[in-house]
Amino acid sequence: MNALILIKKNTPLNYLDTDMPYPSANQVLVQLKAAAINHRDLWIRKGIYPRIDVYTILGSDGVGLINDQAVIINPNINWGNNPTVPSSDYSILGMPEDGTFAEYIAVGKDRIHPIPTHLSYEQAAALPLGGLTAYRAVFTKGLCKSGDKVLISGIGGSVAQLAFRFAQAAGAKVYVTSSSDEKLEKALQMGAVGGANYTVQHWDKDIWAQTDGFDLIVDSAGGTGFKDLVRLGGLGGRIVVHGNTDGYFAKLNPQTIFSKQLSILGTSMGTDAEFEAMLDFVRQHKIVPVIDSVFALEEHEKAFARMRNKERFGKVVFKIE
Ligand SMILES: NC(=O)c1ccc[n+]([C@@H]2O[C@H](COP(=O)([O-])OP(=O)(O)OC[C@H]3O[C@@H](n4cnc5c(N)ncnc54)[C@H](OP(=O)(O)O)[C@@H]3O)[C@@H](O)[C@H]2O)c1
Repeated sequence: MNALILIKKNTPLNYLDTDMPYPSANQVLVQLKAAAINHRDLWIRKGIYPRIDVYTILGSDGVGLINDQAVIINPNINWGNNPTVPSSDYSILGMPEDGTFAEYIAVGKDRIHPIPTHLSYEQAAALPLGGLTAYRAVFTKGLCKSGDKVLISGIGGSVAQLAFRFAQAAGAKVYVTSSSDEKLEKALQMGAVGGANYTVQHWDKDIWAQTDGFDLIVDSAGGTGFKDLVRLGGLGGRIVVHGNTDGYFAKLNPQTIFSKQLSILGTSMGTDAEFEAMLDFVRQHKIVPVIDSVFALEEHEKAFARMRNKERFGKVVFKIE
């Protein structure tokens, strides 16, 4: 079968003919129909991710067929029994275990779920890793409920878009930030109540005037702009952080945090129960992830270039024929 394999860090992946995976007794063989790229794959390709093994097939998100049944794969491996943190054996499909950028994959039988029937293969492939992360950030950590004022930063991002959809479907009033006025406009068309361009100086003042602060803020960037998000926290608000796209936090004034009784919460991936709850929520609310672009596996360099393109809005997906 053909697959995208990491052979050397910080070089393009290799599209190669490789051995078919052979499922063990507790595994099943899935013929993959679509897979999606996550920021994680960019970090791994660059060589800046923990526990990188070369000669591994990348990819955490995948959907496909087992005989005629369309299935979606839970990318968690060994989360364990503690819902608060994963076990020490935890890993994510696609490093160090072979992932979904391939024609076939052998995965644990308990990793398989029916695909939400309102979604195409490409749309469903946009869900697993980002959907799980967004679901835990918005609901388990963020305690989002109807009527909450919610801010999602960097709406061009794929986790941000799912977090946006989830909070909106729960009845929250959702605001967004972006570096792009076009993306803000698209988010307003998707039902955002308001938005601001975080590259414009003092952007937070205007949004504070509109909202008086947020009950929940979901952020994947950190960096210098995080202090603006802390300023936008409302009384007793929660700020959930799931990424570090912009690196270390800049200076934060602790007084802003304690005087407003803010909670700053870290989250990463989610439990198997949250994965199932996320799929149920997607089915119930007919949520459709935004697809930016679709490529063949052979076009992997174009797909990775699109991931890095600032104009991207939503998920970059591989269609696997
Ligand atoms: N912990 C976990 O379990 C987990 C899971 C998934 C992802 N992550 C992390 O979360 C981050 C986002 O992942 P993703 O897959 O959604 O990535 P992505 O689709 O590549 O997100 C890129 C988006 O990040 C936004 N962004 C960049 N710099 C920003 C800044 N300074 N302030 C606010 N937003 C900024 C941009 O939004 P605009 O274009 O709108 O400006 C950009 O479109 C990554 O760091 C990733 O590693 C963590």
